[in-house]
Amino acid sequence: MGIREENARLEDLDRRYLWHPFTQMKEWIEGTPLIISEGRDCFIKDTYGRWYIDGVSSLWVNIHGHRRREINDAIKEQLERIAHSTLLGLSNVPAVRLAERLADLLRSSFAACRGPIPDKVFYSDNGSTSVEVALKVSFQYWRHRGLEGRNAFLSLNNAYHGDTLGAVSVGGIGLFHSLFRPLLFRTYRAPSPYCYRCELGLEHPSCRMACLGRMEEILKEHSEEIAAVIVEPVIQAAGGMIVAPEGFLRGVRELCSSYDVLLIADEVATGFGRTGRMFASEHEGVAPDIICLSKGITGGYLPLAATVTTEEIYNAFLGGYGELKTFFHGHSYTGNQLGCAAALACLEIFHRDGTLQKLRPKIELLEAWLKELLELPHVGDVRNAGMMAGVELVSDKATKEPYPFEEKMGWRVALDVRKEGVFIRPLGDVVVIMPPLTISTENLKTMLEKIRRSIRRVTEG
Ligand SMILES: Cc1ncc(COP(=O)(O)O)c(C=O)c1O
Repeated sequence: MGIREENARLEDLDRRYLWHPFTQMKEWIEGTPLIISEGRDCFIKDTYGRWYIDGVSSLWVNIHGHRRREINDAIKEQLERIAHSTLLGLSNVPAVRLAERLADLLRSSFAACRGPIPDKVFYSDNGSTSVEVALKVSFQYWRHRGLEGRNAFLSLNNAYHGDTLGAVSVGGIGLFHSLFRPLLFRTYRAPSPYCYRCELGLEHPSCRMACLGRMEEILKEHSEEIAAVIVEPVIQAAGGMIVAPEGFLRGVRELCSSYDVLLIADEVATGFGRTGRMFASEHEGVAPDIICLSKGITGGYLPLAATVTTEEIYNAFLGGYGELKTFFHGHSYTGNQLGCAAALACLEIFHRDGTLQKLRPKIELLEAWLKELLELPHVGDVRNAGMMAGVELVSDKATKEPYPFEEKMGWRVALDVRKEGVFIRPLGDVVVIMPPLTISTENLKTMLEKIRRSIRRVTEG
């Protein structure tokens, strides 16, 4: 079979058998799927041999590039020993080593913060499950403290914490979440710190972060029902790369401390260097009570997640067997050896290569490009936290009028730039840019230039 026939067969099988996530399959099966066969550095290659810059790090997971020798080797080495054994009633070598490594990393990252630092590691498989664990742990923690009324959570509008039902309950994106409302538990919602489209109709900084004031009103009235506040620190990613004003996260931390509710930092997207620091919460010197980690933890190689809690929370679960204080939660692949080995190699590269130190000039380049882009007639807002960036396209810049939903402007830009060898995936009309941290300055420049040209072609004709 020639390459064309082989590819046509794969495409046909994809249309026939695969159901893709977050995808309108009617549209998908009418098109031609892009099928990836290989990757190297910050590039991915399709079955026709065309290379693309991986502009969204394979959905925000890849950190050190594809086919990184050190991570490949670590997985192969682990594979020669064992691929998986359970963490229920057993332990394993890489899971223990990684737990120590994560605890050390959190201790050093949050050394300057007041209060306890999370260092008890509970593994699961993906970002959503790390959030489920955080929610269930918080809920159960208060039960063990004898406070049975803490059955609700507080989250932000525009929040995204994953797609399992607990994570959807604390989600705040109508398009993804409102349909499931009848299945969800009670969650209080505070305004999103989305200054470009402020829900309260105010302007920063004269608003003096009135959104925090709203959060305080909820806490004042309901703190005795609230187990935890959950936030994406610094940037609400899937909500549209919404960057909170400086001081917002610190304000949330202060409110949680004053009203005695737990703070869960969902660093699934922001963790592992994406924002320029190892964890986004570091930017504001905030140590959460619980931190959720996934995506970049394995450098984008394997599904793994960790929910890390403070010792105080962990201790509340200790007791005699009959006291029923056990955390009855776990997954088949909890603490998987291959994933933990990949994560250890990923962290070692950060340390050895000075990945974060090398990031500064690339962030500056990205920021300068974003600033220039704001001159374009249909670019309403540009936002970034380190290497996580979003460009919000609008039909009318003066009124901030969005494009009609059906016009799919973000997608049109993504499809246009794909022809130029760049793969990106938008969030509505927000063009998302989040390449692997190790992308070279040259490749970054090339990618940004191509995206700029596509934005112009699509929005200006
Ligand atoms: C902040 C945040 N939390 C949780 C998740 C869910 O992670 P996963 O897709 O691995 O379940 C995501 C995914 O984008 C995320 O951005």
